[in-house]
Amino acid sequence: MNLKKFYNKKKILITGHTGFKGSWLVHWLSRYNVEIMGIGLNPNNKLNLFSYINKKKLLDKRIDITDYKILEKNILKFKPDIIYHLAAQALVKKSINNPLETFKTNIIGTANILNCINKLNKKTISIIITSDKCYESVKLSRGYKENHRLGGNDPYSASKASAEIIFKSFFNSILKKNKKIKIATARAGNVIGGGDWSSDRLIPDCIRAWVSNKKVNIRNPRATRPWQHVLEPLSGYIMLSYHLQNNVNINGNSFNFGPKFNDISNVERVLKLSKNYWKNARTKFYKEKNFVEDEHLQLNTRKAEKKLKWKKIFTIEKTIELTMNWYKKFYDKKNAFKLLDNDINYYLKKNRNFTYE
Ligand SMILES: NC(=O)c1ccc[n+]([C@@H]2O[C@H](COP(=O)([O-])OP(=O)(O)OC[C@H]3O[C@@H](n4cnc5c(N)ncnc54)[C@H](O)[C@@H]3O)[C@@H](O)[C@H]2O)c1
Repeated sequence: MNLKKFYNKKKILITGHTGFKGSWLVHWLSRYNVEIMGIGLNPNNKLNLFSYINKKKLLDKRIDITDYKILEKNILKFKPDIIYHLAAQALVKKSINNPLETFKTNIIGTANILNCINKLNKKTISIIITSDKCYESVKLSRGYKENHRLGGNDPYSASKASAEIIFKSFFNSILKKNKKIKIATARAGNVIGGGDWSSDRLIPDCIRAWVSNKKVNIRNPRATRPWQHVLEPLSGYIMLSYHLQNNVNINGNSFNFGPKFNDISNVERVLKLSKNYWKNARTKFYKEKNFVEDEHLQLNTRKAEKKLKWKKIFTIEKTIELTMNWYKKFYDKKNAFKLLDNDINYYLKKNRNFTYE
């Protein structure tokens, strides 16, 4: 697919543009002849990736997606052609401490976005980002498929499963009738890469500890997660939006994006690989009482490989190398804007699905 052609003169709405994945996406898509409207809240941390990204094409709106009136007014005025809905309360631990905020943002917020898409009444392509955690936990080592049962043992997971159910109901009873609307959901695995400083996430926790020469506290060394570089699911969202243009059979579908089975790693392995990049990197394991989390979480990504020709490009070693080098260079005072560009250029060179000149 030719990215330059696909995005030429497009108006793109990215919700959650001030977050980790949203910042990478805004930076990437700003290479093309586009107008971007971002809808999100102020970044959570003083140190945040959003401060460093390309904002030349960005109309930056700080809007709460649970505030329907303002949301609708702004979206209907902007009239986007393509929508990537990433805005969410995205942290499991925070969802346990504040379940109502998580449910409100992730469930009502998503319903609000879907209602705006319907009200737009114009040709649109929309990708609703949910999560690998939307599946009912049945300890399935061979990986969840898109038609497996939804569920969730914590408010974050349950909110993402709920967002999927809300999406299906909206699609089947309202959006499907409107031939101008093309829409799908994307369920990606745990994402890593330079520039994430969120709390209670493995890599940001390690970086925060190691740059200040402290030990990092690790909860569950044996937990496996579908880790992947942030550019991998973002390329999935991009390819999904591209294929939705012409392939009616995938309209209303959901797609998993995650690593290959031979690349599945547990926390211990990720730590071992990451430590190679830092002098004196130390870890301490501890047990957290009353914290429910799945030991094994993997995704089956065959549907995306077959229908979208999407594939994961980087091995876990390469993913960690890119991530750790990004942080190392950032703390060596290298230009973060250029670090983002370098990783995107490298990814585009390696991914033969994309031509962009
Ligand atoms: N990071 C991961 O490993 C991962 C894995 C699977 C799915 N996801 C999903 O991908 C999306 C992006 O994740 P991320 O890691 O960039 O999260 P993040 O926490 O870095 O960013 C979240 C974004 O949502 C915005 N937001 C939160 N509440 C809002 C509200 N009420 N109104 C408007 N905006 C609001 C924030 O301002 C921010 O821009 C989320 O939907 C998340 O659930 C993330």
